[in-house]
Amino acid sequence: MHSAEEIKKLVGTYAAQFVQQDSVIGLGTGSTVYWLLQELGSRVKQGLRFTAVPTSAQTLTLGKELGINFTELNDVDELSITIDGADEADPQLQLIKGGGGALLQEKMVAAATKQLIIIADHTKIVEQLGTFPLPVEVIPFGWKQVQKHITGLGCEKIVLRTRNNQTYITDNHNYILDCYFNKIENAASLNAALHSIPGVVETGLFINMASTVIAGYPDGKIVTIP
Ligand code: 5RP
Repeated sequence: MHSAEEIKKLVGTYAAQFVQQDSVIGLGTGSTVYWLLQELGSRVKQGLRFTAVPTSAQTLTLGKELGINFTELNDVDELSITIDGADEADPQLQLIKGGGGALLQEKMVAAATKQLIIIADHTKIVEQLGTFPLPVEVIPFGWKQVQKHITGLGCEKIVLRTRNNQTYITDNHNYILDCYFNKIENAASLNAALHSIPGVVETGLFINMASTVIAGYPDGKIVTIP
């Protein structure tokens, strides 16, 4: 049986095959994408050429160390694929993302992409979204007002994200509220309601964006959905 880390390595490595020579792609963020970057770095050394838009400073830094060539979202028209992780994926491929704090750039990159490929271990595949607290990126100014509005949408608990006992600051200088909805009955309408709150920058709900989820299992099996 494979450990959680081995499963991430399996799917991350597997997904590298979807990066074609001379393509322009998006690269996600997280501990599963870490393994994708490692494999792409090896393939670059063997002659693979492609250009990537990173979804975070973390991915940009690691990718550069591995020899990956990067560009900016403003300098591309469209991305053929983006490969990214997720925190939850339901049977309709609706997602919760942002556990790693990169949801805003991840969503902008996904929106510029023809095919969003999600790589994840089997624990991320759920029947209903919401057990994982939904990350909502907010402007620091008056964030407690935003918190109040989100509570009004039926959210049971909201936690201002911290790291090392400091408020977590995103790459775009915002805060993240981790919102415990527990069960999200209608992800699209919740996403719209959150976006109507002044001060909300972006939500971790990725609605109708993913084309494929590639999930790894402890026995080494890799399942592609659909
Ligand atoms: C970062 C993300 C990540 O893709 C998500 O949190 C999954 O990460 P990991 O592969 O480390 O579990 O959305 O903002």
